[in-house]
Amino acid sequence: MKLLVINGPNLNMLGIREPDIYGKDTYADLIARIENYAQTLGVTVECYQSNHEGAIVDKIQEAYFTGVDGIVLNPAAYTHTSVAIADALKAVSIPFVEVHISDVDKREGFRQVSYVREIAQRTISGKGFAGYLEAMELLVAEHES
Ligand code: DQA
Repeated sequence: MKLLVINGPNLNMLGIREPDIYGKDTYADLIARIENYAQTLGVTVECYQSNHEGAIVDKIQEAYFTGVDGIVLNPAAYTHTSVAIADALKAVSIPFVEVHISDVDKREGFRQVSYVREIAQRTISGKGFAGYLEAMELLVAEHES
């Protein structure tokens, strides 16, 4: 099974960016945890991060042509604005789980809008880096069922 983890804008700044909200661990720490967990689950994983909406759309489209079985997606700020990312996910029909490090439902009103939530298998929010691992587990379980 082949998983793709996509992180949106400013998530490359983890560890530096608002550590009281997103924690002190870095983006490299996150990737290490994801890659380690992929080994435990016995799946292949590719991690991708971009600060650009169109690049994320391109990556989602590419996933269709490269046979990705599941996507873990933290669209970051694009969660709350991007029709293009939601449309790309609908276009490829690859099962995906929406992840947020912070609990978006308990933050500003604009963060409670998600353009991808209704088409996601599930949304995991407020569990820190562990949310990505839970999302991977979920996609693997669904793929095997
Ligand atoms: C985030 C929450 C978003 O509102 C924010 O714009 C982010 C990160 C999270 O992981 O908690 O960049 O997706």
